[in-house]
Amino acid sequence: MGISSPILKLNALATTVNRISEGLNRIDRIMEEEPIKISEDVKIPSEFDIKFNDVSFAYNKDGQEVLKKIKFTAYQGEITALVGPSGSGKSTIAQLIPRFWDVNNGSITIGDIDIKSIENEKLMDIISFVFQDNFLLTDTIFNNILIGSPNAQKKEVIDAAKAARCHEFIKALPNGYDTYVGNKGTYLSGGEKQRISVARAILKNAPILILDEATAFADPENEYEMQLALQKLIKNKTVLVIAHRLTTIVDANKIIVIENGEISELGTHDSLIANNGLYKKMWEAYNASLNWKVDSRFIKEVKKE
Ligand SMILES: Nc1ncnc2c1ncn2[C@@H]1O[C@H](COP(=O)(O)OP(=O)(O)OP(=O)(O)O)[C@@H](O)[C@H]1O
Ligand SMILES: [Mg+2]
Repeated sequence: MGISSPILKLNALATTVNRISEGLNRIDRIMEEEPIKISEDVKIPSEFDIKFNDVSFAYNKDGQEVLKKIKFTAYQGEITALVGPSGSGKSTIAQLIPRFWDVNNGSITIGDIDIKSIENEKLMDIISFVFQDNFLLTDTIFNNILIGSPNAQKKEVIDAAKAARCHEFIKALPNGYDTYVGNKGTYLSGGEKQRISVARAILKNAPILILDEATAFADPENEYEMQLALQKLIKNKTVLVIAHRLTTIVDANKIIVIENGEISELGTHDSLIANNGLYKKMWEAYNASLNWKVDSRFIKEVKKE
């Protein structure tokens, strides 16, 4: 199945370049990969609950399973959060939904339709991503947001940027929305790049939002701006958030704890704290790290005097 529309080409390119950043070996592997097949019986979902039905997955055919019998439902209109140690499989779960890879066992459905029966282009239409490694094309900021909805009007692009809290910093750049970014373009911080990705996702306005939160930046101002932006994004959508800053998902409808490719706990923040397991340990460690940051700032202040 060939990739036809410009948006799909851009999506494919974005995906590929993300993978470059994770190592050239992976590119080699992607080149060797057989094209993912679509079933003959193409269907279009009209509802957007996402169900994982005992999904197992290994990146390499004879390799170790990275996901083992993952089973959960992310309901439309709710926020489902994935948390867990680094390398536990959270991004892999997220990337199976748009079929960057195909499951080895089990199935994933959207609105009770197996994603293998959904036409690739349609699948891309109904999912918005904000990637962990934010990827911007070497192009203007305006075009980087426009990818979300290539036929959008200028005003819609600017409104999306305003909603994603990036209009102000874009306007402050010498060339504003015409500033070149990407590989050799103007340097933007991780937080700024992520907000441009959020603007792109707001413009796209797809019913499913997958947000793979970046770990690299956790300054409180950016976190607050992002929260405001995301509140606009998530109404009535199926939202899957991979969170490193646990304060961002305290109110999630469901929190799924992934450990070594398996679901080790599932519940709300309160029920998981009561459970006294890995989530509680992560929560305590997270809070200790916040206190540590405050303390280290305080120590610097004291040293200055
Ligand atoms: N393209 C790939 N090819 C082979 N192995 C991979 C690939 N991507 C991830 N892995 C491996 O799969 C496992 C799960 O990785 P994944 O990226 O899903 O973890 P994660 O929970 O998102 O971690 P983090 O919190 O650091 O983002 C890890 O062992 C990782 O090394
Ligand atoms: Mg990840």
